[in-house]
Amino acid sequence: MNTTPIKTAHVVVGVTGSIAAHKAIDLVSLLTHWNSENVRCEVRVVMTADAQKFVTEVPFRTLSRNAVVRDLYESDEQWSPRHIALADWADLLVIAPATANTIAKLACGIADNALTCLALALHQETGMLIAPAMNGRMWQHPATEENVSILKNRGVEFIGPDEGLQACGYSGKGRMSPVDQIADRVRQMLSERGI
Ligand SMILES: Cc1cc2nc3c(=O)[nH]c(=O)nc-3n(C[C@H](O)[C@H](O)[C@H](O)COP(=O)(O)O)c2cc1C
Repeated sequence: MNTTPIKTAHVVVGVTGSIAAHKAIDLVSLLTHWNSENVRCEVRVVMTADAQKFVTEVPFRTLSRNAVVRDLYESDEQWSPRHIALADWADLLVIAPATANTIAKLACGIADNALTCLALALHQETGMLIAPAMNGRMWQHPATEENVSILKNRGVEFIGPDEGLQACGYSGKGRMSPVDQIADRVRQMLSERGI
C-alpha cells in the first residue's frame, strides 16, 4: 500500500489573444485530469481581454472547477487583490498560448492586466513556462527575439513554437507546441521543484 501523502500542485494557466487560445482548453483538461500516484493538479485560469475574443471563460471555469480571472478589478470575498493571491498560490505559471504582445510586456515588466500583474508578482522560486503562438514573421522579428532572450536570461522557460501551417495561412515557425507536450513539461518542471 502506498502511504506517501498526495501533494497538490498549483498551476496557473494564462491564456492570451491568439487563434490557438482554444487549445488551452485541452491543456487545462489534461492538467486537471493528471492524477499520478502522489500528485494531483489544481488549475486556475487567467485570461487577457483579447483572449476572450477568441474563447469564452466557460470551458475554463468548468474544467478547472474554479472561477476564471479576467479582470484586475473583479472582486470576490478576499480582501487581497486576486492577482497577488494567485501569485502566492502558484507553484507554476504556464502561458499558453503566449502572444508576441504579452511576451513583450513580460520582458519589459509591464503590468497592465491581471496576467501581467500576476507574472510580475510571482515568487522567485515559482516556475514560468511560455508556449508562444504567432505568425512566423512576428516570432522572427528582432523585437520578439530580444524579448524572448531577456526572459530566458531571467530563468523563464519556453516550449516551442513549432514549424507548420499556421492559422494566418502561412507556413513557418510559430505554431503553439502540442498541448500534451506542454502538459508533460509542466509536470517535469513541478517535479524539478520537488512537487
Ligand atoms: C484573428 C487574430 C489572430 C491573432 N493571433 C495572434 C497570435 O496567434 N499570436 C499573436 O502574438 N498575436 C495574435 N493576434 C494579435 C493579438 O491578439 C494582439 O496583439 C493582442 O493585443 C494580444 O493581446 P494579449 O497579449 O493581451 O492577449 C491575433 C489577432 C487576430 C485578430
